[in-house]
Amino acid sequence: MKVVLTLDELRSAKSDLLSPLGLVPTMGFLHEGHLSLVKQAKVECKSVGVSIFVNPTQFGEGEDLEAYPRDLPRDLRLLEEEGVDLVWVPTIEDVYPTDSQTWVVVEELTKRLEGEQRPGHFRGVTTVVTKLFNAFQTDRAYFGQKDAQQALVIQRMVKDLLLPIEIVVCPIVREEDGLAMSSRNAYLNPEQRRAAIVLHHALGDAAERFKNGERDAGVLRRSMLAVIQDEPLARVQYVSVADPDTLEEAQGEIQRALLSMAVYLGDTRLIDNEMLGID
Ligand code: PAF
Repeated sequence: MKVVLTLDELRSAKSDLLSPLGLVPTMGFLHEGHLSLVKQAKVECKSVGVSIFVNPTQFGEGEDLEAYPRDLPRDLRLLEEEGVDLVWVPTIEDVYPTDSQTWVVVEELTKRLEGEQRPGHFRGVTTVVTKLFNAFQTDRAYFGQKDAQQALVIQRMVKDLLLPIEIVVCPIVREEDGLAMSSRNAYLNPEQRRAAIVLHHALGDAAERFKNGERDAGVLRRSMLAVIQDEPLARVQYVSVADPDTLEEAQGEIQRALLSMAVYLGDTRLIDNEMLGID
């Protein structure tokens, strides 16, 4: 496995790789969720690249940029074990040249849910992902369904900008008790970790109601809210039942929906989601 730091090194190392190339963009502190993307890329591609870059432009003021967990030696060990071919750990200067003033913005899809709560977040994500796509000149790129809106926004961007890249979205990987894997789970103390399962329970409860015939978006939204409010350590930021294509909040009867939520446990903000009516 080759590990490179500069853009020039990446470009020359890339020329040794076989096509198709699959890219797994990450911010490091890898867990089984990231590794599932690498495994999928290994199955579908002749070579696999990974980027590790904590992208400052997708963090808002007061968010956890400085505190974001990092462990590069461990990340590299895990990627080596998975048989990754090339890892880029760029410097900030390579990704954002001095005086850089170009941004990539997906307009409508980023106004809701995470975009509404975290202004500027998706502008940072789509900009850095475009740069990573350009740097790697990848054929495919792998993202997790855990960040459902991110996956949708990137698919939209690739389509709108005619980028010749296939986006592969892989299922959420969960801990044994159902908590969605996330680098931010590392912030939870033992009581918060126990309480964090409430996100999965709320989604599971609504999914069960849907399976049993409940189709009213308002009822499903309220049922998720009630489950979360039953957990004293949890504080809801939003609970949503949305159209899975436009992310507009659903009203009345639904056949398909994206259930999603952001919930605080102490200072830690967790998100989770589940698709209804889609196989
Ligand atoms: O999902 C993430 O880890 C980040 O948003 C990404 C796609 C690596 C861009 O910084």
